[in-house]
Amino acid sequence: MSHADLTPPYGGRLTGRQPAGTERAAALERAARLPRLRLSERSLCDAVCLGSGAYSPLAGFMGRADYAAVLDDMRLTSGLIWPIPITLPVTVDEWASLRGTDAVALEAPGGSLLGILDVDDVFETQPQREAEIVYRTTDPAHPGVAAVLSAPPLALAGPMTLLDVPDFGFPDEYRTPAQTRAVFQDLGWKTVVGFQTRNPVHRAHEYLQKVALETVDGLLLHPLVGLTKDDDIPADVRMTCYRTLLAKYYPPRRVVLSIFPAAMRYAGPREAVLHAIARKNYGCSHFIVGRDHAGVGSYYGTFDAQRMFDDIEDELGISILRFDNASWCNVCESMVTDKTCPHGAGDRVTLSGTKVREMLRSGRRPPPEFSRPEVADILIAAMARKGETASAG
Ligand code: ADX
Repeated sequence: MSHADLTPPYGGRLTGRQPAGTERAAALERAARLPRLRLSERSLCDAVCLGSGAYSPLAGFMGRADYAAVLDDMRLTSGLIWPIPITLPVTVDEWASLRGTDAVALEAPGGSLLGILDVDDVFETQPQREAEIVYRTTDPAHPGVAAVLSAPPLALAGPMTLLDVPDFGFPDEYRTPAQTRAVFQDLGWKTVVGFQTRNPVHRAHEYLQKVALETVDGLLLHPLVGLTKDDDIPADVRMTCYRTLLAKYYPPRRVVLSIFPAAMRYAGPREAVLHAIARKNYGCSHFIVGRDHAGVGSYYGTFDAQRMFDDIEDELGISILRFDNASWCNVCESMVTDKTCPHGAGDRVTLSGTKVREMLRSGRRPPPEFSRPEVADILIAAMARKGETASAG
């Protein structure tokens, strides 16, 4: 089976630059002579997505023309749809210290070398306008907006070279888009559904995935493990949940668990488009968008993210699987949505995030219709550990 059987990357080819062998050695030598710039956690995630090809066709942090085009038309200057600016914020002082250089060595927040940025532009961003257009709000209580508004107002742009991938803590599950594509090919898959998540997989998530698995060759379970908000469940706990769930409830060789090294922006509809584009690059022909995808609080309508794709799905070149609100129905005795079940809210098992957290914190499992007991137990143990740390601290 040839590579042509999988969906092509967005824009036609993977653009990430991650040299190996003598080319990498030469780049490391070059980096040693360059001024260094320390990245925030968020920019580190962007840099890994850019360097690995997850954000193809971008080859680096955006310059002013692409930035303006994304805000004006939700497109790159090439004409391709692109929903969210990927910029590298720098302070005025940082820029002053870098002035005159045409390249910088990028450092991870801990100080280790990450890669090289060949600088071809520096420009002022428009944080208020960016928040308004991308996030549909300028409320600083929105975590994504807060990040945009508090970032330094200059952006450094240019192609980037990734030299060392930072340790996200899951070496067995880190794969570049080229690597997931190779895995899918080995498995003989042509159609692959991507599933974005920043939560443990509960029964509703499992239902969406399994409905999709009825019609495609395989599932890429692709949890986002980059920066998330403090009250989201930490990635290591989630990874334990995913592995446990897959071992017990999914057939082997039908699912690939791999990490998505992006930062969460909570930009709802626009972020859903970014998530879909990235998953196309990883080799997915299909992508699941359920209720309030990548949302936070009540900033977005429940199905705004799905609507976002109505006019652009063909152009993006990935099939969006839209799902209604899924939950267990006590009368049907199965997972359902309004599309498959005539019963009302009173017959459904639904729990708010707050309620679930409350139960787990007090050591109680949510009902098995909401969450598999194995997943609940992992979450209860993690909450107990967190409680111990908090009281010890
Ligand atoms: S997200 O921020 O990464 O989108 P989450 O991990 O909760 O959040 O959701 C992953 C995917 O499952 C998203 O597409 C979301 O819309 C969908 N989803 C989550 N819960 C449900 C549900 N009960 N019904 C339908 N879709 C859901």
